Amino acid sequence: MVNRRDFLTSLAAFSAVAPLGMPEMAHAFSVPPACLVDGPAPPLPDRNLYMQNEDAFWAALRNQFLIPKDEVFLNNGTVGSSPYPVLKGVFDSYLDTERMAQDDPEQYPIWGYEAYASYRDALAQFIGATRDQIAMTRNATESNNYIANGLELKPGDEVLMSDQEHPGGEQPWNLRAKRYGIVVKKFEVPKPPKNAAEILNRINDAITPRTRIIFVSHITTVTGVVLPVKEIAALARSKGIISALDGAHVTGMMRLNVNDIGCDLYTSSPHKWLQAPKGSGFLYLRDEAIMNKLWNTIATHGWDEPNLKAERFQHIGSSNVPMLAGLQAAIDFANWIGMERIEKRHHELADYIYAEMIKRGAESWTSPDPALRCAIVTVNVAPAKMPDLEYWMWKQHKIRIRGGAPHKIRLSTPYYLQKGDIQRFLQKFDSYKQA
Ligand SMILES: Cc1ncc(COP(=O)(O)O)c(C=O)c1O
Repeated sequence: MVNRRDFLTSLAAFSAVAPLGMPEMAHAFSVPPACLVDGPAPPLPDRNLYMQNEDAFWAALRNQFLIPKDEVFLNNGTVGSSPYPVLKGVFDSYLDTERMAQDDPEQYPIWGYEAYASYRDALAQFIGATRDQIAMTRNATESNNYIANGLELKPGDEVLMSDQEHPGGEQPWNLRAKRYGIVVKKFEVPKPPKNAAEILNRINDAITPRTRIIFVSHITTVTGVVLPVKEIAALARSKGIISALDGAHVTGMMRLNVNDIGCDLYTSSPHKWLQAPKGSGFLYLRDEAIMNKLWNTIATHGWDEPNLKAERFQHIGSSNVPMLAGLQAAIDFANWIGMERIEKRHHELADYIYAEMIKRGAESWTSPDPALRCAIVTVNVAPAKMPDLEYWMWKQHKIRIRGGAPHKIRLSTPYYLQKGDIQRFLQKFDSYKQA
């Protein structure tokens, strides 16, 4: 393990050779996360504290995150923040793998050619799948691209998606449409949807005899609505249509059981709500029928070996084992807290901010039906304009929200947020409106 003196000595050596014009990098090296190189991370709270005082439990967990205490981070929907146990998983793995002392002389710290069974098992168990059903990828975008580029489709075949897909979900299909003549069709998700039936009816009405795939987000990026995915998957199946879900936001936000959903394909980015390292994602394939329909679009050793099952989609060439160790640490951390507790907390914080924004007269795009929302609330706050309000919040008050022109704000409520943080945001919002 690197101790602080060795670390700083190497820093001095680095600074001596660092060219002028690199002050930011030198600065980054001069502030090592001391608890990682020098001693233990802040202690975890007693798990039983939750039973006595939930708020005290969550306040103690907040110490595991590097986000400064005077910052309010309401944009976990774009990217999460890896806490100390996750960083430790990554750094310990670097310190181990970079010794180049692997047992097997043919083994190196790269993961783009191997099964990495223990990492896949941990992830599979966490999402209600089996090892053979999942490939570890870099993010939802990569997994979505595998799907859009790898399925056999003829010109004129249709993919049906919502009007709220993220570019990382929609654009792969647009590319396929432009290059090969498939057709992208969209249904509109009401803003806000009153209930699940309203959404299902719109999907049902938009299906045509040429619909081959229904591709939708499980939780959309535009409004954070939780779509009724089990019913969508069943509807698709009943009509012989492939269902592919973009669950970028779901892993770590809500309990997830992909086999229970019943979809054919599922993708995600655990770097968001599972607080896993950036660059961790997955692709789920339900069964051999769908595995055999999906071509690899990145090919190296193993692409033509169906017996590898989903593993063949994680053969991408040299990549990064410490990231997998960090993903595993993120899973362990979420399991240690308990996904039930996390999901409940996500709901409570979002319900609170939702109710407060409604009281303030905001126009909601978040559903009044609690089943269609979790930890993302989206409202419109005219006449406040974006990005003005977003910049004012951040530059003047260290509060990060996600703005969208002209008046939209998307508010994410990760479990590590404190109620006091939300109150601070609300106070500042009120003062902005009065100014
Ligand atoms: C629904 C959805 N899909 C895909 C993405 C892209 O995620 P990534 O950049 O991790 O691939 C996002 C990001 O916000 C998203 O919300």
